[in-house]
Amino acid sequence: MSTPHDPSTRKAAHLEICTAPEFYQVESGTTGFQELSFIHNPLPQTSFDDVSLTTKFLGKSVSFPFFISSMTGGSEGGYALNKDLARAAEKIGIPVGMGSIRILFRKPEVFNHFRFRKFAPSVPFFANLGSVQIRDMEHREIFEVLNRLEADGIAVHLNPAQELFQPEGDRDFRSIKEALYRFFDKCPIPVIVKETGCGIPRGLAVDLVSHGASYIDVAGSGGTNWMRVEDFRETVVSSKEVEEFDSWGIPTALNLSSYFGLESPRLDPVLSGKVLSSGGLRSGMDGLKSLALGASLFGMALPVALAHKSGGYDGLVQFLNSLKRTLHRGMLLLGVRDVISLPNTLLVATQEFLYKTEQLKRG
Ligand SMILES: Cc1cc2nc3c(=O)[nH]c(=O)nc-3n(C[C@H](O)[C@H](O)[C@H](O)COP(=O)(O)O)c2cc1C
Repeated sequence: MSTPHDPSTRKAAHLEICTAPEFYQVESGTTGFQELSFIHNPLPQTSFDDVSLTTKFLGKSVSFPFFISSMTGGSEGGYALNKDLARAAEKIGIPVGMGSIRILFRKPEVFNHFRFRKFAPSVPFFANLGSVQIRDMEHREIFEVLNRLEADGIAVHLNPAQELFQPEGDRDFRSIKEALYRFFDKCPIPVIVKETGCGIPRGLAVDLVSHGASYIDVAGSGGTNWMRVEDFRETVVSSKEVEEFDSWGIPTALNLSSYFGLESPRLDPVLSGKVLSSGGLRSGMDGLKSLALGASLFGMALPVALAHKSGGYDGLVQFLNSLKRTLHRGMLLLGVRDVISLPNTLLVATQEFLYKTEQLKRG
């Protein structure tokens, strides 16, 4: 029998709350992307067909630098979504993440929900697990499941803010960093370290990459607020206590600019080629700005779930194609022929953005 605190009931509730914007306001804050703009190039000196959007991720070619962020699995609704996410990712040629596989260790019968390879044979896909599980579980047991899943990578989430608002959430975050270092050392596939909407400060990102993390997905603030999502599991109206944290976290665009600065070319000796942008991205333009700020790929969770909810598989494919078209048009209008050259473009920022970037570099 499942209880409200059972992982599959919790995962089903998360998906239900996130995809019912008429009842639940799960987003808060701002990302900072609106404070940035490009300098238009009226003489691009290239042709639309010569602009290449392709890149590599987790050892495979992808058609444009976008990934579907980790979301679900372990409930019937989650399984249906995962199947369509994997099929759409295969059709478009992009990477896709799955939700936390924690449930697999308790309910091995839901293995099918996470069998992405069946629907996405050629694109990279990555598993997902919490950092507390990395501390508390046998790593050998995790590696066995990753092997059975045939995953190309694993995203490990850091989410103390979410846990604190989850009634049954973890409260003890001691010794996680050391466990992560051990995990990086032995894990047979690349490890992505991500937040779930509060960002990762520069100093920690450098530390994690220096100890073997393959990628940092900032998953900054300005989009889905997981403190709010957890709060809505108890109430329909957000509580005063959770609203106090509405602007908590590092806004995604500022998180990236604190890694790479705003002067072009935006490069960092440790972090270049290892950073993913997500958290509150809501358009292809947010994606284009992310890549210009120095990220290698950009990702989204909530908009993907909402596109699927309103349009099913076809709606999802249309949404993904539209992101790709925006990126393509934007690159042409900047006169940029390939993704790797985007950090060389000039960016115009507000005074406040510049100031906050400098402040955040200290973090
Ligand atoms: C329905 C749903 C379920 C999610 N489940 C997970 C999860 O299992 N593991 C994880 O690391 N992040 C999970 N996330 C968080 C996202 O991966 C992402 O970091 C966060 O929502 C911010 O991105 P967004 O503003 O584009 O939604 C989930 C997001 C959504 C919308």
